[in-house]
Amino acid sequence: MLTQSTNIMEEDYTFNHKHILGLEQLSANDITFLLKTAESFKEISTRQIKKVPALRGRTVINLFFEPSTRTKLSFEVAAKRMSADTFNISASTSSLKKGETLIDTARNLAAMNPDIIILRHSYSGSPGLLARHIKASVINAGDGTHEHPSQGLLDLMTVQEAKGTIKGLKVAIIGDIAHSRVAHSNIIGFSKLGADIFVAGPATLIPPGVNQMGATTCKTIAEAIDGADVVMTLRIQMERQSESLFPSVREYANHFGITPQVMRLAKPEAIIMHPGPINRGVELSPELADGPRSVIMNQVTNGVAIRMALLYSIMGGGES
Ligand code: CP
Repeated sequence: MLTQSTNIMEEDYTFNHKHILGLEQLSANDITFLLKTAESFKEISTRQIKKVPALRGRTVINLFFEPSTRTKLSFEVAAKRMSADTFNISASTSSLKKGETLIDTARNLAAMNPDIIILRHSYSGSPGLLARHIKASVINAGDGTHEHPSQGLLDLMTVQEAKGTIKGLKVAIIGDIAHSRVAHSNIIGFSKLGADIFVAGPATLIPPGVNQMGATTCKTIAEAIDGADVVMTLRIQMERQSESLFPSVREYANHFGITPQVMRLAKPEAIIMHPGPINRGVELSPELADGPRSVIMNQVTNGVAIRMALLYSIMGGGES
């Protein structure tokens, strides 16, 4: 197992994870360590020469079987800025098209000795399955409706930057909680760092187990947003709904869309977050998405730093 020691935590601490499958498996100390590591890496992306040799000679494979703009590019940018060699495979250009199983594909990739495989897949649990079958480290880049750990971490980093702390904040998460791996990672991550999470959305899109995950379910979005420090809205995930779980998109926008009027209920200095891609005018009004309280682009910027921290930390801090 690759390990990394640091004296930045209050107590003696070692980051000791080979895979990043979800925030469920990380402790509050692990999360704090990754946020601090990302903070120290963020400056690299502002340099004229945006490259450090930390992962020189390491091989990173991006295995994306679902569409992605932010996560895929951000992992690739992160790996390249750490001097790793990166390769991309998508479902449409792989032999999965010819009927090869995910495990067989992964075993064949593993036979080429990569150090890290980053997987996005529509099946919840597929990164865990991969991790059990291959020697390389596996990072979950979003699996079905389960978790999206790097998104959860970049959201935590963005809130910490904007608010100075996570502990004691009121975080409102609005929308399709049931199908959102982003919501699941955020509920787990924010509750591990001591925030109070309130969720609201159509009753058909709030899963029964959400309270056990650490969130309070609200009957209305007004209740969730009232006095909130952070308002996070989620994309409606039509591709994950086998049946229509709300009457229409217009109906959804009327009842659950975040508008300037709804935002008056939040604290005046409350920030607005969205993982992207945004359905403008549906879950979030364009003037809020582009307005002064939006930290959506900060989320994207921090995504690179968080992914640099993840790659670096699972490789034992760059030591070979
Ligand atoms: N937030 C997020 O996962 O975006 P992509 O689907 O573009 O990667």
